[in-house]
Amino acid sequence: MSRMKAFAMLQLWTVLLLQAVKTYGYKPVIIIHGILDDARDLSELGAYIEKAHPGTEVHTLDLFDHYYSFKPLWEQLSVIKNITDPIMKKAKNGVHLIGYSQGGLIGRGIIQTTDHHNVDSFIALSSPLNGQFGDTSFINWLLPSKLKEDLYRFFYTNYGQLFSIGNYWKDPHHSKQYRKYSSYLAALNNESVQDNFSFPPSWRSNFARLGKLVLIGGPDDGVIAPWQSAQFGCFNRNEKPVEMRKLRLYHDDVIGLKTLDKDNRLKECTQSNVHHTHWHRNYTVFLNCIEPWLT
Ligand SMILES: *[C@@H]1O[C@H](CO)[C@@H](O)[C@H](O)[C@H]1NC(C)=O
Ligand SMILES: *[C@@H]1O[C@H](CO)[C@@H](O)[C@H](O)[C@H]1NC(C)=O
Ligand SMILES: *[C@@H]1O[C@H](CO)[C@@H](O)[C@H](O)[C@H]1NC(C)=O
Ligand SMILES: *[C@@H]1O[C@H](CO)[C@@H](O)[C@H](O)[C@H]1NC(C)=O
Repeated sequence: MSRMKAFAMLQLWTVLLLQAVKTYGYKPVIIIHGILDDARDLSELGAYIEKAHPGTEVHTLDLFDHYYSFKPLWEQLSVIKNITDPIMKKAKNGVHLIGYSQGGLIGRGIIQTTDHHNVDSFIALSSPLNGQFGDTSFINWLLPSKLKEDLYRFFYTNYGQLFSIGNYWKDPHHSKQYRKYSSYLAALNNESVQDNFSFPPSWRSNFARLGKLVLIGGPDDGVIAPWQSAQFGCFNRNEKPVEMRKLRLYHDDVIGLKTLDKDNRLKECTQSNVHHTHWHRNYTVFLNCIEPWLT
C-alpha cells in the first residue's frame, strides 16, 4: 500500500514539476521567418530550442509565406500583431522574439510600436535592421536584370513601396528620396520626411525597454548588404560600411541603442563562414548566439 502511495506521490510530483518548468521555466519563443520562407524553414531552429530547453512553447508564425512575404511591412505587421499580442498577454513572465532576415525587421517594428510588449530577448538573425543595398536573388527574381544602382528609381516611388524590400531599401546615393519614400525603415529610424510623420517617443522607449537586444550577423552572409546592417550599420555615401556606434541613430539614442549598450543589454554576435540561408540551421550559431539568451 505505502509503496503504491509513494509511487502515486512521485507521479504527482513529477506532473507538478513539469508544470512548474512549463509555467516558470522558459519563456515562450516567437519566431518570424524571412522572405520567400515559411514556418517549416524554421523547424530546425524550433527543434534546437526544444532540445536545449525542453517544454518551451515555440510559436513559429506561419503567415505571409513565400511570395506573400513581399507584402508591405506595415500590412504584415498589423496582421502579425494580432497573433503575437495574445501570446504576449498570456505569458506573464514575458516572451522572447526571434526574427530571421526580413522577419527581424518585422520583429523590430512590433517592439517599437507595441506599448504593452513584454519581449525580454529580441534576437535578430541576420536581419537588414538598417536597410539593404545589394543585389540578391530575391531582387533578381522581382526585377530581373536590374542593377542595385538603378533600383531606387523603382523602390522610391509609391508603387515601389508596395513591396516589402522597397520599405527598407537604403540607397546611400539617394538618401533624400529614401527619407521621402521609405515608409517603414525611415519611419522606425526617425529619418522620414513624409508629410504628417512625427516620430512617437514611445517608439524609442518601447525598444529601449528590451531585456536583451541580440544582433547576429557575419561577413560571409552574402545577401544582407552591408552585412553590418544586421548590427544596425549601413553604407555611407562612398559605399563603405559604417558601424552602428558611428551613426547618429546610435549617437542620438534615437531608438535606445545607446541606452541598451551602456546597460550591457546589447549583444553583438558575429560569426564567420555562415551564408545567409544557413543562419537558422547552424547549430554552432544557435549555441553561441541564441541559446544563452533564451532563459
Ligand atoms: C485584428 O484583430 C481585431 C480584433 O479581433 C480585428 O478587428 C482586426 O480587423 C484585426 N486586424 C487584422 C489586420 O487582422
Ligand atoms: C496631413 O494631415 C492633414 C490634416 O489631417 C490632411 O489633410 C492631409 O491629407 C495629410 N497629408 C498626408 C500626405 O497624409
Ligand atoms: C526625431 O526627429 C525629429 C526631427 O528631426 C527630432 O526633433 C526628434 O527629436 C527626433 N526624435 C528622437 C527620439 O530622436
Ligand atoms: C556554422 O557556423 C560556424 C560559425 O559559427 C561556421 O564556422 C560553420 O562553417 C557554419 N556551418 C555551416 C554549415 O554553415
